[in-house]
Amino acid sequence: MKRILTGDRPTSGSFHLGNYVGSLKNRVNLQDEYETYILVADLHALTTHFNKTETIRENIKGLMLGYLSIGLDPQKVTFVLQSGIPEVTELAYYLGTITQRSVLERQPALKEKLDQGAQDTFALYSYPVLMAADILLPKANLVPVGKDQKAHVEFARDIAIKFNNLFGETFPIPEPLIGEVSTLLGTDGQSKMGKSLGNAIFLTDFTEEVEKKVMSMYTDPNRVHPTDPGNVEGNPVFIYLDAFAEDKNKEPISDFKKRYETGQVGDVEVKKYLIQVLNNFLDPIRTKRAEFESHPELVMRILKEGTQKARIEAQKTLSEVKKAMKLDYF
Ligand code: TRP
Repeated sequence: MKRILTGDRPTSGSFHLGNYVGSLKNRVNLQDEYETYILVADLHALTTHFNKTETIRENIKGLMLGYLSIGLDPQKVTFVLQSGIPEVTELAYYLGTITQRSVLERQPALKEKLDQGAQDTFALYSYPVLMAADILLPKANLVPVGKDQKAHVEFARDIAIKFNNLFGETFPIPEPLIGEVSTLLGTDGQSKMGKSLGNAIFLTDFTEEVEKKVMSMYTDPNRVHPTDPGNVEGNPVFIYLDAFAEDKNKEPISDFKKRYETGQVGDVEVKKYLIQVLNNFLDPIRTKRAEFESHPELVMRILKEGTQKARIEAQKTLSEVKKAMKLDYF
């Protein structure tokens, strides 16, 4: 079975609808076809949160609850805490010995993070090297990531090829898998959904919160009266309906669209339907989350056991690496 590795930095502990459409949904589908590793990248989180470790600690639990509530199955998926695998920093060091400084200087994410006010540290600079070690230790074949991480996966590819050329076949060459689903619009219709943009609906939002957010959602700004022909294209209400309605409920949506475009339905009626659709989608997630929330020790045990399993793999790979580099002294 081919292996997947993907992950998130615990700089946030919650997921929103955009995260679901852009990557989480994909992971749920892939868990049956691939041996899936999901990494909670707490070492990477330190590059921007070195003085916020209490937050990281809380967010680790939040991410785990999010994964489990959407149906990632701990029987199929190995959940890994990055700092529980010390081999990752050791491999990163060896990879660092064959990484040109200029390559790290050119990484687009570095400039972006610095522009956002991140500290200019060694850890930030070497971010892609650590990420390559994350990917190569479990010998992942496929790395599903967002567009913003593509360059990092390409770096991991390049370094794997280079290592294999220098020291002999050791790593499979990982492929990025970029989600085909375009980024979900925010409730303001302006930009992509983002936690810090204040335009997100979270998987953890209560029924009433969803209702409030949908009722104040952006629709078609040129439509003043329900009898005006409206625009469905680029209208987040319809985009969310398409993304979250169950197949059996697709028919009312095309009817709503027709009526909207011909000025035969008001925003409120469509929004009320969307509230129903979103709550139907979120209800099973809420139920599952509540189950796990009442067993916090179970959630952390799942992470611990996954980490232990991944560590055995990591140790195996690292000893191959040391052998290949002729560092196996004892
Ligand atoms: N850098 C990724 C992000 O910020 C998180 C991450 C760390 C990751 N290591 C990884 C993703 C390995 C995929 C594979 O989103």
